[in-house]
Amino acid sequence: MSYQIFHGTVIDSLSPQELIIFDNVLLVVSPEGKILDFLADFPKEKIPSELERLEIPVSFPLLENIRYLARGQFLIPGFVDTHNHAPQWAQRGLGQSMHILEWLEQVTFPNEARFSDPAYARRIYTSCVDGFLKQGITTASYYGSLHADATKILADVCLEKGQRALIGKCNMDRNAPEYYRDKSAAASLADTRDYIAHVRRIDPEGALLKHVLTPRFAISCSPELLEGLGELAKSNPDLPIQTHFNEAEQEMKFTKELFPQFEGSEADLYEHYGLLNERSILAHCCHMSEHELSSIAKLGCGVAHCPISNMTVGGGFMAAPVREFLRRGIKVGLGTDSGGGFSSSILDAMRQALVASNAREVMSGGKDKGLNISELFYLATLGGAKVCGLDSKIGNFENGKEFDALLIDARAPGVMTILDDEDSTETIFNKFIMTGDDRNIKEVYIRGRLAKS
Ligand code: GUN
Ligand code: FE
Repeated sequence: MSYQIFHGTVIDSLSPQELIIFDNVLLVVSPEGKILDFLADFPKEKIPSELERLEIPVSFPLLENIRYLARGQFLIPGFVDTHNHAPQWAQRGLGQSMHILEWLEQVTFPNEARFSDPAYARRIYTSCVDGFLKQGITTASYYGSLHADATKILADVCLEKGQRALIGKCNMDRNAPEYYRDKSAAASLADTRDYIAHVRRIDPEGALLKHVLTPRFAISCSPELLEGLGELAKSNPDLPIQTHFNEAEQEMKFTKELFPQFEGSEADLYEHYGLLNERSILAHCCHMSEHELSSIAKLGCGVAHCPISNMTVGGGFMAAPVREFLRRGIKVGLGTDSGGGFSSSILDAMRQALVASNAREVMSGGKDKGLNISELFYLATLGGAKVCGLDSKIGNFENGKEFDALLIDARAPGVMTILDDEDSTETIFNKFIMTGDDRNIKEVYIRGRLAKS
């Protein structure tokens, strides 16, 4: 790969409050896919001398290939999906409004069981990864099915297509039907180790892939399995951990029955098994006691906020107190939770996060203000990168980070609110976030490589 040079508008997130719009940016990407230079308000005419300063050989193809972005086009950081289920790709939108345990039993387990067939796994995972790339998801934290072989296929597909991913073989050895559960805790752990070895073999540097320890949730894991996973977490300090956490009342009630010693605190439960630390990605966190809020804040856990599935599947239909997380400095990002969530679009998740936060504002008597565009954009990018432990590598356009980016074209024909000659860049961005879709996501870059065009 050669150097890549862009000149035009770049919109970036530095923090929940800092949405930055830069005009006339010169952005240079190195052959290794890193951001080498980022200069705002940079005159086009000075590009050759800047390249000289960077000691980049100024050849004609390089200068001819500079991407000058037109009005209505801009670069943003790639979207991070902090929670999603690859084997649920073919069941999105099914079983809406069901309560969680019935939905798992009737819709999800029969679907996920089909991934015992490697040919089926390859077909669905190819479509799934293509589908998420199309939506501009440059990093995804995927649950796999319980099958180590199918999950290896998912890792292979992500690597082939160049998507950055955390991928977990799902661990579940109880409270699931005979046809879809790990045969024992020992077998589940052995399959996990076998799968981790595969990921380390195909991507030894961890350039794109990482295994994520994935106890489905406490209900489907025996104490022995949770203990084993806690030991794996301890002996592999590079591995992130993901699970479902305080998602719905039905789930919380059954968890309390299975583990009465923790008196209804999932924070105490997962902490006891060594699964709560700064590497933990906790999906949902809809119902949080004061004790649990302070516990996950203290332990440095991240939250995958999944507002679509929270309002459509699970029961209770309550999304997480995101304002409270932000207030306490708890890491939080967005998850599609596809297929509990019906959409594979982070833009949809941003909009639903806005709706859910407005409901929370009403419920809190005005104390928890709804989220604004800057905060939603942060959650979808840098916030998600922090939750996935990747913010030193990606999440925004800091110098030295890897170039995971989306080239947006707000002029593309689609459903997006039409542009007006008078629109400021901020207005155009707002129109894209609230009404754009994948037709406006023209190009997707991961580590500087084009993954969709
Ligand atoms: N809890 C346990 N498994 C699942 C799942 O697949 N989706 C959701 N939303 N919650 C879960
Ligand atoms: Fe989920």
